[in-house]
Amino acid sequence: MADHATVLSIDGLSVNFGGLKALNKVNLELRKGEVLGLIGPNGAGKTTVFNALSGIVPPAEGTLELFGKKVQWPKPHQLVHRGIARTLQGVGLFPDLTVSENVMLGANHLARTGLTQSFLGLTRKDEAALRNRAQAALERVYAGSVSERRADTLSYPDTKRVSIARALISEPKILLLDEPAGGLSAQDIEWFNALVGNLKSVTSIIIVEHHMDVVMSICDRISVLNFGEVIASGSKEEVRSNPAVIEAYLGSHAGDKKR
Ligand SMILES: Nc1ncnc2c1ncn2[C@@H]1O[C@H](COP(=O)(O)OP(=O)(O)OP(=O)(O)O)[C@@H](O)[C@H]1O
Ligand SMILES: [Mg+2]
Repeated sequence: MADHATVLSIDGLSVNFGGLKALNKVNLELRKGEVLGLIGPNGAGKTTVFNALSGIVPPAEGTLELFGKKVQWPKPHQLVHRGIARTLQGVGLFPDLTVSENVMLGANHLARTGLTQSFLGLTRKDEAALRNRAQAALERVYAGSVSERRADTLSYPDTKRVSIARALISEPKILLLDEPAGGLSAQDIEWFNALVGNLKSVTSIIIVEHHMDVVMSICDRISVLNFGEVIASGSKEEVRSNPAVIEAYLGSHAGDKKR
């Protein structure tokens, strides 16, 4: 049973894709103000957990509690209202829009409509307010200076910052980050770790990440998925020394983690 400090609790989540059991009775708990690492070999089901949480794939079974209350699994357009935002694996910015416009698209009322229609449908005042919120989100990830650039002119590390800003504009209470540090250099990882550390003061975070140095430096707790099942959950020390985890990482998927 989740206590009052638990912001998200998943109980017995299963997801099937045809005959493939992508998730099998997964339990996960995210506590207020923490960074929970969700790790596991390629294909373990990490992104599927986020997809189930965001209404992109239907759960076959399982219950969800948000902020201590049992709720239906969200539909995609309900996410922001429920206080949840996510980044997508990979970057997914619209290349020919400005950074600011890309971030504005993360705000709730734009998420459901077509792009042109979205911006045209706003009054000037609303658009200015939204632009200010986008700027504030960009400043939070130290990307305030690139707001008027076209997204396709950004450096790769800057695209990673902007994709986080796009999730932050809705001021989520729960932030789901899917491989946010993927492809970053060791040098970039330093600012990235500091950035996530700063975000902890405003949101609780689940981070899927293959960079073990990131996981070990920023996560408060870790859950490990393997073939759709949680094989370990606990502190970094507990997880690191768990024989099932060591086996999963040294087994047939050992070559996959370095990406
Ligand atoms: N929409 C889908 N339709 C069919 N199979 C899917 C779908 N999405 C994921 N899968 C399968 O479900 C399993 C879990 O995939 P998932 O993307 O969740 O893994 P992951 O842990 O995020 O892996 P990675 O680290 O490579 O991103 C894989 O076998 C994958 O091929
Ligand atoms: Mg994935």
